[in-house]
Amino acid sequence: MIKVNINYAKPFFKKELNLEKEIKEIHQKIHEKSGLGSEFLGWLELPIKTTENDLKSLIKAAQEARTKSSTLLVIGIGGSYLGLKAGLEMLTSTFNKEFEILFAGFNLSESYHRDLYDYLKEKDFIINVISKSGTTTEPALAFRIFKKLLEDKYHEKANERIFVTTDKEKGSLRKMASLKGYQTFDLANDIGGRFSVLTAVGLFPLAFAGLDIKEIMRGAKASYYDLLKRDNDAYLYAKTRYQLYLEGKTIETIVNYEPQLNFFLEWWMQLFGESEGKDNKGLFVSSAKFTTDLHSLGQLFQEGPRLMFETVLKVKESSKTIKIPADNDNFDDLNYLKEKSLTEINDQAFLATLLAHSEGGVPNVVIEIEKLDCYHFGYLVYFFFKACAMSAYLLGVNPFNQPGVEAYKDNMFALLGKQGYQELAQKLTKKIEDKSE
Ligand code: PA5
Repeated sequence: MIKVNINYAKPFFKKELNLEKEIKEIHQKIHEKSGLGSEFLGWLELPIKTTENDLKSLIKAAQEARTKSSTLLVIGIGGSYLGLKAGLEMLTSTFNKEFEILFAGFNLSESYHRDLYDYLKEKDFIINVISKSGTTTEPALAFRIFKKLLEDKYHEKANERIFVTTDKEKGSLRKMASLKGYQTFDLANDIGGRFSVLTAVGLFPLAFAGLDIKEIMRGAKASYYDLLKRDNDAYLYAKTRYQLYLEGKTIETIVNYEPQLNFFLEWWMQLFGESEGKDNKGLFVSSAKFTTDLHSLGQLFQEGPRLMFETVLKVKESSKTIKIPADNDNFDDLNYLKEKSLTEINDQAFLATLLAHSEGGVPNVVIEIEKLDCYHFGYLVYFFFKACAMSAYLLGVNPFNQPGVEAYKDNMFALLGKQGYQELAQKLTKKIEDKSE
């Protein structure tokens, strides 16, 4: 279960908005699939539509992949990267792994890819390339590089080491997979990238890591049913951030106290940033990792411009324990904490920060998560999907498109000399020359 506490945000409301009518209408619009972008609502019923057999075949494929190698190179970017990495970091030990999952194609850094190449040259590995469109430049380039490495190492057997997650019909990756006979996982065309972690995009690599994907989907299903009611915590969160936005708190910082959630914050930022940042609207999303960042950004949060609010992901129960030992010398004067667990201390740091920041003028919304396990990962992911849809519709934008990301791509293709972009290339070159004078 997820609980949202807005008591540290409410004092900042000038007058609490009554959004009952809007929420009722939007809830209906989501479930009747009649709102903007509703052709991308395939995620909505995914938890109840994913069958036992779907999961069994993903688990089987992952187990077979594990017999080939314990090193998996995942190639993908954006929605084909962030959510599955968030799941891996949340659900597996930071240090002790029986498998290795590496990532490529999420940037264009030559040094990153060279280092990875040199490392993999000496390794036995397999590839899962994930691209819904099958045409995204970063993963397509990385796939070329590492496919060649696999082919050089394993020759005709290389094809058996490539797993492709892509659209059922469209895209050059689909075409290549069909011709080469790679094993494929089909993606439905009504689920956008940032809403895809509960499909094979996330579930195959997570199953490869030995995680219980049935439990993940059980959590998502419970979330689905809990959020069928109109009076739910996902909408409470959406409504609160909307009210704060209208009151000039235009920056939302998502905060955690568990480093296992660090990448979850990255996933969350994409979900809300890409869904809402349109038509000159939307909260500017950012993240902070506490208590680490209290020693770097704490000053800014406490006394900087009063434009932000914090959304704190607070985990109630730690699955692991470590206690502070007694020390007869007590040079550090810490014996008053002896026998306490780090979670007890972390909890007090959370409360102390909550009080200090809210008293310093930063509204705080607290989202309490029972614990970090597969069930709660599935629950939380779906919780934020639903909150995001509600929140974007409250703002009046289409939650499911991302027209703005094309601008840089067009410029990049033109500057790289891609066919069909000559006219734009001339214009851009002229602009660059003018600016360099
Ligand atoms: O959310 C989105 O749609 C994007 O972030 C995409 O996931 C990202 O651009 C990668 O696209 P693709 O999976 O088509 O390679």
